[in-house]
Amino acid sequence: MVGAMQTTTVAISGTGVWTPPNVITNEELCEAFNEFVRRDNERNADAIAAGERKPLAESSAEFIEKASGIKQRHAHDRTGLLDPDRMCPNVPDRPEDQMSVQCEYAVNAAKKTLADAGRVGEEIDMVLLAGSNLQRPYPQIAMEVQEAIGARGFAYDLMAGCSSATFPIQIACDAIRAGSATKALLVNPEMTTGHMNWRDRDSHFIFGDAATAIVLEPVSEARAGSFEILSTRLLSKFSSNIRNNGGYLNRCDPETQNAPDKLFHQQGRRVFKDVVPLASRYIKDHLGSLGLTVDQINRFWLHQANRNMNDLIMKYLLGRHATPEEAPLILDTYANTASAGSIIAFNDHHDDLPAGAVGILCSFGAGYSIGSVILRRL
Ligand code: COA
Repeated sequence: MVGAMQTTTVAISGTGVWTPPNVITNEELCEAFNEFVRRDNERNADAIAAGERKPLAESSAEFIEKASGIKQRHAHDRTGLLDPDRMCPNVPDRPEDQMSVQCEYAVNAAKKTLADAGRVGEEIDMVLLAGSNLQRPYPQIAMEVQEAIGARGFAYDLMAGCSSATFPIQIACDAIRAGSATKALLVNPEMTTGHMNWRDRDSHFIFGDAATAIVLEPVSEARAGSFEILSTRLLSKFSSNIRNNGGYLNRCDPETQNAPDKLFHQQGRRVFKDVVPLASRYIKDHLGSLGLTVDQINRFWLHQANRNMNDLIMKYLLGRHATPEEAPLILDTYANTASAGSIIAFNDHHDDLPAGAVGILCSFGAGYSIGSVILRRL
């Protein structure tokens, strides 16, 4: 006899954040950038004097904090980034028998997360590694992580820009509901300092390095204080306004292989204008699909790209400014850590919530890609 279908409800039972120990303040960043600008202008003094070239303009710590809310960022390496003649992190290649950098980031976060969930690696049977950048196509970095933590089952990488936070949550949640996995580890090793153009005044301050991880498992097995996933929703809408053309075909056109479009670049103003209304409407609709209104939500763990952006999204949603408790910001200390940002906000700002509290985790960014997860504390 076929019994009634039982739907497995899924919970986030553990979270963890790891950052490299180096920190770079806005002041340090601008000192190196401005020295690069002075040297570049000096080198090109004749062309500038002849009106053939515009002088580069300096950056300022005050502008950065006002435009973005960022005061500092963690960085894998300071030596290359702060060298005005280099302006790129120094990250020595590792031999193939050593753990790769992104795997190390993921494992550092995963260890904390497994401990938080009260789990060990071999209980995991699905590993998803997601991020805005992957250091190689194969073998998949997720599989290296799977091996390193002693997980079973299967593992794979996926990329969804900053929504690499939420896209794997929906995928893993569906897999656990369907029975194709029982316990999933999701990791976001965001070593973003590698994709930035440190010579670009418009964007040299935006990103920082961090890794996050979460564990998903059935509510029936999750530890007390876990967060039940009430609903997930994803949306993508193609746009080139945030773009990075770095990839395996670059060397096939030697003329352009090192051009700045092979690094992160964006139309920041357009992103702001497109994403703020998109994200606020999207959050409202997702909550509405469960019969929830914004005033029933105890916490908004938003993607952390820009303070002004998050402030405006919250103002559209609530009709007033949100308090720091309602929509916590972590940008000041971490900067934009791509897909790690909303997970860091969740990791750092959930302990105080009582059982029954409801929150929404929402990522948005390159793609455009948007994802949200409505959570209730158990
Ligand atoms: N230091 C000092 N001044 C700077 C500067 C810097 N580093 N960069 C730009 N400026 C100047 C510009 O020259 C411009 O001057 P002008 O008004 O005299 O022309 C002025 O500051 C405003 O520049 P603008 O590029 O329009 O800045 P902004 O206020 O739009 O802020 C972002 C830039 C990127 C912070 C903002 O567009 C943004 O947050 N966009 C959202 C997208 C995002 O964060 N994406 C991240 C990836 S998900």
